[in-house]
Amino acid sequence: MYYPDELIEEVRARNDIVDVVSGYVRLQKKGASYFGLCPFHNEKSPSFSVSPTKQMYYCFGCGAGGNVFTFLMNYENDTFPEAVKVLADRAGIKLPEIEYSQEMKKTESKKAVLLEINKEAAKYFYYQLRAPQGKTGYRYMTERQLTDETMKKFGIGYSNKFSDDLVKYLKQKGYSDELIVQAGLGIFDEKRGTHDKFWNRVMFPIQDINHRVIAFGGRVMGEGEPKYLNSPETMIFDKSRNLYGLNFARSSRRENIILCEGYMDVISMHQAGFTQAVASLGTAFTAGQANLLRRFTDTVILSYDSDGAGVKAALRAIGILREVGLTGKVLNLEPYKDPDEFIKNKGAEAFQERLDRAENSFFFEIRMLERDFDTKDPEEKTKFHREIAKKLCAFSEEVERENYIEAVADKYHIGFESLRSMVNSYAAKTGLAQPLQRPKSGIQKKNTPQDSIKRSQRLLLTWLAEEPQLYPKIEKYISAEDFTEELYQKVAGHLLEGLKSGVCEPASIVSLFEDEEEQREVAGLFNTKLIEMENEQAKEKAFHDVLLAVKKNSYEYHMQQLSGDVNALKLAVEGKKALEELSKTHISLK
Ligand code: CTP
Ligand code: MN
Repeated sequence: MYYPDELIEEVRARNDIVDVVSGYVRLQKKGASYFGLCPFHNEKSPSFSVSPTKQMYYCFGCGAGGNVFTFLMNYENDTFPEAVKVLADRAGIKLPEIEYSQEMKKTESKKAVLLEINKEAAKYFYYQLRAPQGKTGYRYMTERQLTDETMKKFGIGYSNKFSDDLVKYLKQKGYSDELIVQAGLGIFDEKRGTHDKFWNRVMFPIQDINHRVIAFGGRVMGEGEPKYLNSPETMIFDKSRNLYGLNFARSSRRENIILCEGYMDVISMHQAGFTQAVASLGTAFTAGQANLLRRFTDTVILSYDSDGAGVKAALRAIGILREVGLTGKVLNLEPYKDPDEFIKNKGAEAFQERLDRAENSFFFEIRMLERDFDTKDPEEKTKFHREIAKKLCAFSEEVERENYIEAVADKYHIGFESLRSMVNSYAAKTGLAQPLQRPKSGIQKKNTPQDSIKRSQRLLLTWLAEEPQLYPKIEKYISAEDFTEELYQKVAGHLLEGLKSGVCEPASIVSLFEDEEEQREVAGLFNTKLIEMENEQAKEKAFHDVLLAVKKNSYEYHMQQLSGDVNALKLAVEGKKALEELSKTHISLK
């Protein structure tokens, strides 16, 4: 941790979570909590809750949860120190200088300067496009049917005919030649010295997920080579980890993200209302980009050119999507080349219809495969069927595989049984694909006894966090050791310690854990859904049951440990006593 815990706690306490989250999500009060649409997954009815008493948020749909810090970390992609900084500023708290190592200081400040330079350049280009010398650029963009509003949203600019004016401008702002080159905006050669990388092009600033300009693409106006010129990779621009348009698409709240190839495609789609469009930056789609997308959607609709290269790229992308557990679909825009052309000719409504009919990526693969075979010829046809069977082995889950076998058999008029036996014989030879390790989701799996114990422990923690006045009544029965899950025990330790001295700040406990997954899990512990009880009596019984279940498990657990551990004996004996007493005791919730 960079800052002292007390300072972090002060920053947290001075930023009310309802205020902070309201800046991003529309919240409505319902009972003691606020509800809204979850910004971390797509949903139509609100399951995202913010609790002013606990100062935490939690989504019952996807399991995202935490305090003000984790909210910003997840929403803005901030690091922990960044989130602390933002919230400290917001509350007017002055933070001490962070003690970075020399090395880190250098890299961090270098990155900050490169970002600054790119921002200056974006402003410069933006201004040029709207000045008299930018007329050609502005006209080119208008002819491509971009509105002023769209140009503004995407920060479209113009690099003019002089090949050293940007460098001059930046130097006058105090940046060295070396930095300008490192920012990707200048090129050095012996003859000309440092000069502009971009000139006489319309400019597309490339922004990262937090709207910071990290690079540029520049297009010639009309014909010319290269059609697009892009910033080189720099300390702040990693092509394989960014997607053009994602800074807007991330908050589009659509059921899918559309992945295409070009800057203009993204812009046209956004202008037509398809704000979920992104493009890989003139390079092949990567696993890094797929992982980035997975944070915002589970379905990606591919819209690549319909030519040979486009199909090849789409097939590769399908594989990558499948690997990270995303559903892929393929958009067919024929007879048009790309979304930009399609929308220009057919409009938004027709585009939506095509989106609705996007093809299942497996069927697309098979359809493309078919083109390699002359299926009029029986031998070729058999080969084609074998290839299909091989591909079907990629589905490791039986139900899914069977469904696909059925669908493909139907579509290509192959006997279901014969296709299935072909698949099985290939699977026997080469094995099925390994089951995917999907990321954790909020979906409930089967309930094991272990799960129900964990659930009781979670319920108790949530209950105490929500009704801390109950603590004194059960103080003598319960201790942190009763929480037999390691993480739960740590959390219970902090919570009970606080309760003992009359404070209950569950949100502060979240920040005691450094790992993001852990923070999420901790938030979950304080947000287990308590069942609504119709009356006080039923509620008392439920509370008693939960308490008893936790104690009983604790007793059994420590009994098992007896052989090796003296402390366990003590705990077991005490546990037995407490358990007996507890089962006879009535605890009033009043
Ligand atoms: N691209 C590139 N360098 C090139 C050509 C293309 O980086 N020399 C990238 C750009 O990101 C471009 C994308 O590949 O947007 C798709 O290229 P292409 O299909 O040729 O262009 P369009 O997007 O159709 O561009 P436009 O509509 O402006 O002709
Ligand atoms: Mn195009």
